[in-house]
This record gives sequence, structure tokens and C-alpha cells, in this order.
Amino acid sequence: MAQLSLLGLVLTTVVTPVLGGVKYPDCTSGPLKGNLTTTLTYCPFPSADIPPSNAPGFSKLGLSAYQWWNEALHGVAHNRGISWGGQFNAATQFPQAITTGAAFDDALVEQIGTAISTEARAFANSGRAHLDFWTPDVNPFRDPRWGRGHETPGEDPFVNKRWAAAFVRGMQGPGPTHRVVATCKHFAAYDLENSGSTTRFNFNAKVSTQDLAEYYLPPFQQCARDSKVGSIMCSYNAVNGVPACANSYLIDTILRKHWNWTDENQYVVSDCDAVYYLGNANGGHRYKSSYAAAIGASLEAGCDNMCWATDGTQPNAAPAFSSKLFSQETLDKAILRQYQGLVKAGLFDGPNGMYRKLGAPDVNTQAAKDLALRAAQEGIVLLKNNGILPIALNSSGTSVAMVGFWANTADKMLGGYSGSPPFNHDPVAAAKAMGITTNFVNGPLTQSSADTSSAVSAAQKSNVIIYFGGIDNTVEKESQDRTSISWPAGQLAMIQKLAGLGKPVIVVKMGTHVDDTPLLSLPNVKAILWAGYPGQDGGTAVMDIITGVAAPAGRLPVTMYPSSFTSQAPYTNMALRPSGSYPGRTYRWFKDAVFPFGHGLHYTNFSVSVASGFPASFSIQDLLASCKGAAYSDLCPFPSVPVVVANTGSRLSDYVVLGFLAGQYGPAPYPIKTLAAYKRLFAVAPGQSQTAVLEWTLGNLARVDERGNSVLYPGTYTLLLDQPTVANVSFSLSGAEAVLDKWPQPPA
Ligand SMILES: *[C@@H]1O[C@H](CO)[C@@H](O)[C@H](O)[C@H]1NC(C)=O
Ligand SMILES: *[C@@H]1O[C@H](CO)[C@@H](O)[C@H](O)[C@H]1NC(C)=O
Ligand SMILES: *[C@@H]1O[C@H](CO)[C@@H](O)[C@H](O)[C@H]1NC(C)=O
Ligand SMILES: *[C@@H]1O[C@H](CO)[C@@H](O)[C@H](O)[C@H]1NC(C)=O
Ligand SMILES: *[C@@H]1O[C@H](CO)[C@@H](O)[C@H](O)[C@H]1NC(C)=O
Repeated sequence: MAQLSLLGLVLTTVVTPVLGGVKYPDCTSGPLKGNLTTTLTYCPFPSADIPPSNAPGFSKLGLSAYQWWNEALHGVAHNRGISWGGQFNAATQFPQAITTGAAFDDALVEQIGTAISTEARAFANSGRAHLDFWTPDVNPFRDPRWGRGHETPGEDPFVNKRWAAAFVRGMQGPGPTHRVVATCKHFAAYDLENSGSTTRFNFNAKVSTQDLAEYYLPPFQQCARDSKVGSIMCSYNAVNGVPACANSYLIDTILRKHWNWTDENQYVVSDCDAVYYLGNANGGHRYKSSYAAAIGASLEAGCDNMCWATDGTQPNAAPAFSSKLFSQETLDKAILRQYQGLVKAGLFDGPNGMYRKLGAPDVNTQAAKDLALRAAQEGIVLLKNNGILPIALNSSGTSVAMVGFWANTADKMLGGYSGSPPFNHDPVAAAKAMGITTNFVNGPLTQSSADTSSAVSAAQKSNVIIYFGGIDNTVEKESQDRTSISWPAGQLAMIQKLAGLGKPVIVVKMGTHVDDTPLLSLPNVKAILWAGYPGQDGGTAVMDIITGVAAPAGRLPVTMYPSSFTSQAPYTNMALRPSGSYPGRTYRWFKDAVFPFGHGLHYTNFSVSVASGFPASFSIQDLLASCKGAAYSDLCPFPSVPVVVANTGSRLSDYVVLGFLAGQYGPAPYPIKTLAAYKRLFAVAPGQSQTAVLEWTLGNLARVDERGNSVLYPGTYTLLLDQPTVANVSFSLSGAEAVLDKWPQPPA
């Protein structure tokens, strides 16, 4: 049984990294000599030589302990694989993905990925972290109640694909060595923590093949097939009766075979305790009658490494192996994939290996700090403005009431899976630094009635009231979904009180969904901004936007639903399309948003038009015949669309060009529209124009049929620009429909 100890199972135990310099295995003179090639493509790992040991690390081979569990969703985070201290007592904390998703800026996301992986690598080189990180979270944000929706870039699978591509590129780097291994999670259809007695540990997501191929899986296709991510995490939930970590249709048929994710260095890791909960554990799926059988089923399905957190007991593969619940060949493959992943990340390279020189001076650089601020500025969305913003607040005689639970609570801005930032600039600190006279009063978060008297007296002393509210990640968080998406009652009462004083009120929301309908009927609520989780410099970013130092150009990456949605759409209903009283989900299908996906106002006006000359018709067969060099036909380019954007107002501003497709082609029912292209333009000056060239591929034009095939259909297509639509161009596709991606059917 010597081989068993090499499983990730035992390696996931809590390990304190060697401090003061990592011990890397020596491949040039140690026992690994000859086992590791310099091409980093093949490592014939001598699994038969591995000593039986539950201790982490394998001294015979010169392998030190390795902890696979390292987190870095929006910056190096606090978790068991990462040890903070000394010169590494802080790391840049960027906005959460929901905020950078709102920036619609792929280059920004790539830069953030590069900055995070640079800091992560510096931690690892100093023995304070390891070389794989469980980020990004790319599950589409399907239901507004989800506690972890803010970890994702939003509700749209196309946006999540683009965000994932940019982030993974940044994390892993250009190669040949990975700066760190990224892990796209959670595969798949994971977006529920707890809804009554249904929890993530026992939820069986019933998903149609069409919704799976069209909505739940595209971000993972991007990660696996196109971005060649090093690792994928399987999720807690089951999909159509089979827990994700034992689901060979998902892991083998789709992920590995259909998406050609077959490099020996690409491995699947389970979410923590997911394998425990697919066995006979209380509260779990009871998919297998024992823990051993669960371990065997997961390994055989293609899950290579099993994370163990706190529940149950540590996975022990030995009984499963002796009962022949998995084969030696399966074990060898699992071991090979994980360690080849580490080879690819340069763990076995000498001290001159790529990225090995990164260290403390590469953490918290001024460039990373500037990037964190810019990311927050780019992601803030102006939801409403009656003209009050931007507003100069630092003139003498002006004082500002800053009221609410996150006005001066710095750590609120970070959200889940955070590390320690080098600083936390909350809005009050930022306002003071800008020379603004402030009257600060804290406010309730979930308290249903709160004393408003101090807030009222601060407001009475002030010319302007800024209310900082919404929800935070004690309300929406891992293991905790919400049941209501209304504004918390105590906060609403506070805003109503402040709005009754006859002074202008500006509301700045953090967190994700709350229904703003009651605010929209208060005439003194002159402006509403949404900031999500804006990160370490979020307060500065918000005050920069309010005062006009920066101009807002973010767009909502989610539909802001009315609070009635939660009673119309059962949380556990995974369907996207409406039927009967079921309203459907996302901007593609849901009609009655409070603020729609893509909404976002500016401080200036833009005139948008499609440059003339875009062809009116195309032949499907010609498009395919002329496509040379694309690995997959959905990646064949479609002629790009030049969009001219003129700033007709008086302020410099970015502008996000959003291109949606609509039309009656393919299988009914037809979506309202589908985002097919976007591009952020920077610093469009008043009186000037810039051209955004919208690039897209045949896959962006395809629709998915009931069998999950992506098909290019003949018909009339209309490209709608912006939300709401401000310009459009139509074209037609002729000829026979063409399947761009033939979807493997699920087992009967
Ligand atoms: C790998 O290492 C083992 C043990 O050191 C050795 O027996 C084996 O021959 C090596 N393999 C190669 C391909 O060099
Ligand atoms: C006041 O704010 C403006 C930006 O709104 C800034 O340009 C100016 O320097 C600030 N003045 C002081 C005294 O801080
Ligand atoms: C945008 O244009 C409208 C009228 O076309 C005008 O009322 C409004 O003030 C303009 N807004 C800005 C920010 O220039
Ligand atoms: C993907 O895998 C299939 C099946 O192995 C193979 O036919 C195809 O050529 C591969 N495509 C690419 C682009 O690697
Ligand atoms: C497209 O633009 C034309 C002309 O500007 C307009 O008549 C038509 O209603 C628009 N179509 C859509 C779907 O917005």
C-alpha cells in the first residue's frame, strides 16, 4: 500500500510551511535526479517508491510538505495554506469579482490576476504559501439570494468566460512555468448554500442539458479548453442525481474529453469535504454507502485530490484501495496529474527558476495599490443621478453627514476570502483626506429598528447626506443564503427619515442585491451608487466618484430583481427560461428588473453609432469555410463591428460599449437579448469620439439547442448597443444551420 500516501488526501492536512526559506526538492543531484525533465512536460513519478507515511512530504524524494489549500479570490487571503507575518503581514486586497465584473475591462482583470499571482508567488517563495490557488470562482450568479454571488463576476456566462480568461491568464502567466496554478471553481451548477433543509452538501441541481451547455458550463469550458487552467474544483452539489465530485459525465466526458483538458499536469481537486458528503455522512447526498466507497467513486470519476476541511474524518484511501474501489492505474494518474501540476509551476526548478526571485519587495507595490484603486473606480456603477453628482464637497462652508454601517468600517469593504490589506481606506477616512468636513454616524445593518436621532442631528448640521448601506458579507456569505432581497428594514427606515429632512441624500450601496424600489420613490434621494465590495481603497474610490475626481462608467453585471422575485422563483429551480408563473432568470429571460443588467449612468452624454458599411448578409457555409486556424469552430472570428462613441457632454469619461444580440432564430422561446461583445473605452474627452472595435466569434452568435449543441442558425440578427438600446444594426445569416459544438449527451 506504499502508493496510497501520495494521494492528495494525506497532503491536505494542516501544515505550517517551512519559514525562512522553502526547501525545494533538488532535481539535479537529489533522489529526483533523472525523474524530472527540463521540458516540464513529463515527470515519470516513481509512485512505487513512495514510503507509506501519513506525514506530509516525502523526505526520500526530497519533497517537503505541500498544502494544496491556498486562497486568493481577490488578493492573497487568510487560510490554512498561507502563513502571514514578518514582511508578509499584508497583501493587496482588490475589489471582489462582482465589482471588477462591473468594470467590463478584461485588461484590468488580467492585471489584477498578474498582481495577485505575483504576490502569491512571493509568499510561496518565502515559505508562506504554496503554488496553487483556489481562484477564480466563475459560477454564474443565478439567484440573487446566493451567499457567494459576490465572489463571481456576475450572472452572465459570457461575461464570466471573458473574466475567467483574463484572470487565469494573469494568474498563470505566459509560461512555460505557471506563476501559480489557478483553480476554476466550482464545477458545476453550484450556487446554493442553504435553502431550507436543502444545503450545498445535499442539493441535487436538476439542470436541463440545454441550460447546462448554455449557462452553467461555459465559464469552465473557457478555463479548461481555452485557457488551459491547471486545476478545476468539483463542487458539493449533485447534478442530475450524481454528486459533482463523483460525476464522470461532468469530469470525464465533458471536462477532460470534450474540452481536451488532458495534459498530465491538469488535475481536479474536490471542494473541502465534498467527498465526505457524497458518502453516507449525515446531511450529505448519501450517494454511496460508506466513506471508502465515496473516495473510490470520486477517484474513479476523475477527482484527483480530495480536500478535507473540518467535518467528518480525514479521507483515508487505504480501505477503499484494498476493497478495490479504485484501481492502481487511477491512483497513479491522480498522483501524476497533481505533481505534474507542481512541476509546471516550477516547484522542482532550481533557485534560478522562473519567478523564483519574487519576494517581499514585490508585495504591496505602489503599482498594485494604484491598480486596486483604479479597479474600484472602474467597477462602481451610478444607478441613479438627478444631476447632483458630481458634487464638490471640500469647499469651505460645506459639511457632509456620512451615515451608515460601512461609512467608516474599513474591513467591510473587502468581503469574503480576504487577506490583510496594507491599509483600508473607508469613505470617512477618504473624505477627511480630501479635506471634506464630515459628520459621521454609524447605522444599522440588520437591526430592524434603530435609533435615528444621532443621524438626524448630524444631517441637520450638514448640507449633504451620504448614506452608506446595503448588505455586507455577514449577511451574504459562504454557507448562508438570504431569504429576502429587500433593503433591511432598519436601514430603510433610516433612509426614509434622512430623506424627509429636505436635504439631498446620496445612497452608496455595498454588497449585492437589494431592491431599490422604495428608494426610487423618495424625491430627496438624489443619487444611488453601487460599489459591491470595493476592496482596500474602496472608500477613496467612492469619494472620488462622488466628487468627480473619477467618472463612473461601471455597468451592473447582474439583474437587480424586485423583492417579489424570491416568492416567484423557487431558489432550487435551476431553469433559466420562464414558464407559467415562473419568471425566468437573468436579463436574457426576466422582464421586470428594478435596474437591468448592463445599467450604468455617466456624468456626461454619449452618442453611439455603428460605423456604416457593416455587411447586411453572410453565408453560414462561407463563414465556416473561410475559418482557418481556429481550434474549434465556435472560435472562428465573425467580422468585427466598429462602434463610434462621441462624448457630447462636458466631462471626460470612460464608456463601456455593450453589444447584445436579439432575433427570432434557433429554438423557441427566444431570449430577450444575449450579450455577445463588449469593450471599455477609456477617457473619451468632451467633444471627441473614439471607435470601439467589437470583436466576436461564431460562438457568440450561436444558440444552444435542447440537446446542448451550439448551433449557428440562419435568420435575421440584430445587434443592440447599450442598455437601454441606443443604436442597432441588423444582418442576416443564410444557408443551412451548422453545429459549432456537438454536445456529448448525458448517460441515460
Ligand atoms: C526515478 O527515480 C527512481 C528512484 O530514485 C529511479 O529508480 C528511477 O529509475 C528514476 N526514473 C527515471 C526515469 O530516471
Ligand atoms: C477639493 O476637491 C477637488 C476635487 O473635487 C480637488 O481638486 C481639490 O484639490 C480639493 N481641494 C482641497 C483643498 O482639498
Ligand atoms: C445629457 O443630455 C440631456 C438632454 O439631451 C441633458 O438634459 C443632460 O443634462 C445631459 N447630461 C449631461 C451629463 O451632460
Ligand atoms: C480535441 O480532442 C478530440 C478528441 O480527442 C480531437 O479529435 C481533437 O482534435 C482535439 N482538438 C484539439 C483542438 O486539440
Ligand atoms: C433599430 O434602429 C432603427 C433605426 O434607427 C429603429 O427604427 C429600430 O426600432 C431599431 N430596432 C431595435 C430593435 O431597437
